[in-house]
Amino acid sequence: MSRITFPRGFRWGAATAAYQIEGAATADGKGESIWDRFAHTRGKIKDGTTGDRACDSYHRYGDDVALCRAMNLTSYRFSIAWPRIQPEGRGPALAAGLDYYRRLADGLLAAGIRPFPTLYHWDLPQALEDEGGWPERDTAARFADYAALVVRALGDRISEWMLMNEPAVFVQFGYGLGIHAPGRRDRAALLRATHVVNLAQGEAFRAVKAERSGLRVGSAFSMSPTEPASDAASDAAAAERMHGWLNDFSLRPALRGAYPDCFEAGLPAELDVREGDLQRVRAPLDFVGVNLYSRMLVRAERDRLGLGAKTLGMGGYEGTRTDFDWEVWPDALHDMVMRVTRDYERPILEITENGCSYADGPGADGVIRDVRRIDFFRGYLAALHRAIEAGADVRGYHAWTLSDNFEWAEGFGQRFGLAWTDFATCDRTLKQSGEWLGRVAAENGLDPEAEGTEV
Ligand code: FCB
Repeated sequence: MSRITFPRGFRWGAATAAYQIEGAATADGKGESIWDRFAHTRGKIKDGTTGDRACDSYHRYGDDVALCRAMNLTSYRFSIAWPRIQPEGRGPALAAGLDYYRRLADGLLAAGIRPFPTLYHWDLPQALEDEGGWPERDTAARFADYAALVVRALGDRISEWMLMNEPAVFVQFGYGLGIHAPGRRDRAALLRATHVVNLAQGEAFRAVKAERSGLRVGSAFSMSPTEPASDAASDAAAAERMHGWLNDFSLRPALRGAYPDCFEAGLPAELDVREGDLQRVRAPLDFVGVNLYSRMLVRAERDRLGLGAKTLGMGGYEGTRTDFDWEVWPDALHDMVMRVTRDYERPILEITENGCSYADGPGADGVIRDVRRIDFFRGYLAALHRAIEAGADVRGYHAWTLSDNFEWAEGFGQRFGLAWTDFATCDRTLKQSGEWLGRVAAENGLDPEAEGTEV
């Protein structure tokens, strides 16, 4: 195969999230978030760590901008910590919090990099959780107020925004399985939260547009193509129901004002969908963000939720596996992008996350030879390029993540970075994968058949 080139103006980027990198958990009036509370609860984080310091990006954001520059990136996806703006989840905005993101945005703009923020990447103010959290309908209105405050202050210099990061993951892990903040295991709360988050997405979309109509607004969704675990028709049907729940349950309400028909016995009453709600969940997003890591195999099986479907872990059994035990399956990116392209009449897409965890660290000479990560990116980028050739309108690609950081319940045990973070000093060093991606970005293309560190 010969070299592939991405469309002119294609954006190359990296993604991060506030709680995973900022640290400064109590600086300058920041309020407590559900992740502060959860990480400080004994037994919740595998290695007993917290995000109190993380990469210290609150003080060292200049290092992050410098890394983006060193990789020739043209987009940097980060998130805004709600409790830095509204410590209690309501009321006026804290100037210090806004200033931090203003300085970050200005640093990026000066370097020719698009600031590309997400308004909610999982750090709900604890005060709102104390009032019921996402299962409580009022949280949708709180989120819309917060979104309006932020774009009023920063919408003069930041023109493209994401509302939510991975609604399906944070409601399920946080309220259904209890393995992420706030750590609740309650089927009814999970279902209510799911719908309230969709209401929040719709309300915030309108609030942002009312504040500044020229802004472009999207959301980032966790997506994995669901494949039947066997040839049985029942597994195929189950895989389709799982697609509705995992990939489409926040996207369809936003774009079509309807819920996917993925529960065996119809929409559960606990979702608590009220009169007029299917109008309110609508958010005609200007772009759809796709976060994708692997595929999911699905079989028909009774489950707590009523989907009659079960996933068999992250990925199938044919590809190699990352250190997080996720299958490396590049076709997943092609297949998912094509499915969304077909189902929604070719929406504008951004790949908002894609990456892999490998522990490879500095050798005796200090060089970080993470060639497996390069192989991962090479494969997924080639698959993405096939989707673009087949007609998908993809505008950018963001690697997860800029530098190793706090990987939620895994603590510092999973390293997804293009740069190595020394957590004792918070110094970052580009890995070979970061240098490689920098060359891909500079050339806007690569040779899918190259080997090692070749581009
Ligand atoms: C995604 C999250 C992101 C990061 C990656 C590995 O689900 O959005 O914050 O943890 O997984």
